[in-house]
Amino acid sequence: MIPESFRAYVVDRRGGEFVRGLGVLTPDSLPAGDVDVEVAWSSVNYKDGLAATADGKVARSWPLVPGIDLAGTVIRSGHPSFVVGSAVIAHGYDLGVGRHGGFAEFTRVPADWIVPLPRGLSLRDAMALGTAGFTAALSVAALEAHGLEPGTGPVLVTGASGGVGSTALDILAGLGYEVWAATGKGDEHEWLRGLGAAGFLNREEIAADGRPLETERWAGAVDSVGAAALPFILRTLRRGGAVAVCGNASGPALVTTVFPFILRGASILGIDSAYLPIAKRRRIWERLATDLRPKSLGRRVTEVTLETLEPALDAILAGGARGRWVVRVGG
Ligand SMILES: NC(=O)c1ccc[n+]([C@@H]2O[C@H](COP(=O)([O-])OP(=O)(O)OC[C@H]3O[C@@H](n4cnc5c(N)ncnc54)[C@H](OP(=O)(O)O)[C@@H]3O)[C@@H](O)[C@H]2O)c1
Repeated sequence: MIPESFRAYVVDRRGGEFVRGLGVLTPDSLPAGDVDVEVAWSSVNYKDGLAATADGKVARSWPLVPGIDLAGTVIRSGHPSFVVGSAVIAHGYDLGVGRHGGFAEFTRVPADWIVPLPRGLSLRDAMALGTAGFTAALSVAALEAHGLEPGTGPVLVTGASGGVGSTALDILAGLGYEVWAATGKGDEHEWLRGLGAAGFLNREEIAADGRPLETERWAGAVDSVGAAALPFILRTLRRGGAVAVCGNASGPALVTTVFPFILRGASILGIDSAYLPIAKRRRIWERLATDLRPKSLGRRVTEVTLETLEPALDAILAGGARGRWVVRVGG
């Protein structure tokens, strides 16, 4: 049973002011849902950083417990698929933006948002992956479905030191791809080489203006950076290549020409992790525990708690991510 009071990190708008910090909630502050979960771990994603700032534009209700990811144990279930004591993951949908998310010791979730913890992953592993790792896997799966295979050519990963980028790099290298890392952090080359990066581009190189079409380089790409990087990728994709577009860490605008599409058959594969139907979501999690499991899972993880997560929320928005932050929520 959810106790009379429990801890949560809460953001709110009070009297025109944005406030945030550790607070205490009661069970009746939780939204409706079939399954009560005692949260063991959460993680820090870019969207959580946005939810925890005044002008982040992702939060849709206040007060709000951010945390788009959570992993924990079922303590009450009104749904036959989930028994008390089972280990579960939930992420995306409205969690942490339109209803209370994972930065709380207890929460309540609709059953059809829940993923059973796959065999072979711990709850902490699941959050070391979290939405960022899930999005990386979804991007790789989309590129494969488009026809990408090891041996078809180099694959570029942007924002390589971030959550999505580092996990995509790790997964792709593990599958046997020649992976190139685009990063703004020269001091992270060694770590990225350890994940499997075969070559590097710096951030300025990919942000520079160029001709509408340039030398064909990439059979595929995973782009979590957007504005500055995506035009570069499009004009340097090989004929028939594709880019999985999953983020906008450098901004949302896209300025390109039609030439990559009409002269080289380039494709943009849109990646939306938040509202992916649950059956597909569970399948990707099964793959994250098996063939898409990152070889270095959990190695570059910084652990924080509800008390100490705030600097991570600010750092992620400032481009300071180096791997992943997990949040230890339970005792
Ligand atoms: N589509 C989806 O469902 C989905 C799911 C998860 C995340 N996302 C989005 O994907 C993006 C990355 O998320 P994340 O969790 O990986 O965030 P993250 O851990 O903060 O990583 C983002 C990385 O992008 C690079 N970067 C940051 N600011 C930049 C700038 N101004 N210009 C160029 N590069 C910059 C940095 O890597 P380097 O220093 O190595 O370049 C940074 O580490 C965000 O926009 C997020 O909202 C989308």
